[in-house]
Amino acid sequence: MKLTWSDVTPEALFLNRRAFLAGMGIAAAAPALAATERLNSFEEITNYNNFYEFGFGKTDPAEHAGQLTTDPWAVEIGGLVDRPGNYSVADLAPENAVEERIYRLRCVEAWSMVIPWLGIPLASVLDRVGVQPSAKFVAFETVLRPEEMPAQRRRVMDWPYREALRLDEAMHPLTILATGLYGKPMPNQNGAPIRLVVPWKYGFKSIKSIVRITLTDTQPACTWQQMQPSEYGFYANVNPNVDHPRWSQATERRIGAGLLAGRQETLMFNGYGDQVAQMYAGMDLARDY
Ligand code: MTE
Repeated sequence: MKLTWSDVTPEALFLNRRAFLAGMGIAAAAPALAATERLNSFEEITNYNNFYEFGFGKTDPAEHAGQLTTDPWAVEIGGLVDRPGNYSVADLAPENAVEERIYRLRCVEAWSMVIPWLGIPLASVLDRVGVQPSAKFVAFETVLRPEEMPAQRRRVMDWPYREALRLDEAMHPLTILATGLYGKPMPNQNGAPIRLVVPWKYGFKSIKSIVRITLTDTQPACTWQQMQPSEYGFYANVNPNVDHPRWSQATERRIGAGLLAGRQETLMFNGYGDQVAQMYAGMDLARDY
């Protein structure tokens, strides 16, 4: 099923011609959203965040992320690639190549949103730098800048925040490097100037404010998995049948849905199973969570 703007209720503010055309342009590549799913508002998306570098509260990123200098910005791409180097955001995601993607975001904490991202398929970036045949994984790192990121001045986590994907997951057409949302440049609290978005995985895989991308032949260390391996796996595919040790993953709370809306059922692979399930064929997803 193709996604069009009629599948969601767009925020009036955003329904300008440019955004509308961008939305139509990506229809063929975009996943299905159930008709009537409501797009979260810009306010919701930018005021309820996880970005632990700025504090552990949901409004800390909105309050403090303004301090982060996002221009100039370089992403160092290295490891098993033919053309390693420092790339600007404009190199990686030229404005004329940026697409709109409306995706569900399902946090491991069991809340969710629907977000209209702007971005570029990660595969297009990897193709341009030339992935060598021995590469099996892609590792990502967030900027390390304690002078601008208050929580990095404390050893509450092993900074910088790190994440990784298997190469086939990284090359999947749903996986994007996002540079904006709601037709605007990425707000700092959402991971400016460039972040990963992997819609069928728990939100913690979608690492923000990336400065390093490294192709490797061994599975890279990931922040949450390293910190608490019994709770956070390498794959972190959204899976209503595999509970977090401390809470159920069967349902989720849609941010902004209102008190009377109740919780909604969590979908396998966050509803993207028809596009991604084959990558995990034969795997035991209770063991490889
Ligand atoms: N990236 C970094 N660098 N630091 C973080 O704390 N939090 C993750 C992910 N990326 C996080 C991060 C989690 S837990 C989620 S749910 C999403 O970002 C939230 O993205 P959003 O705030 O744009 O909705």
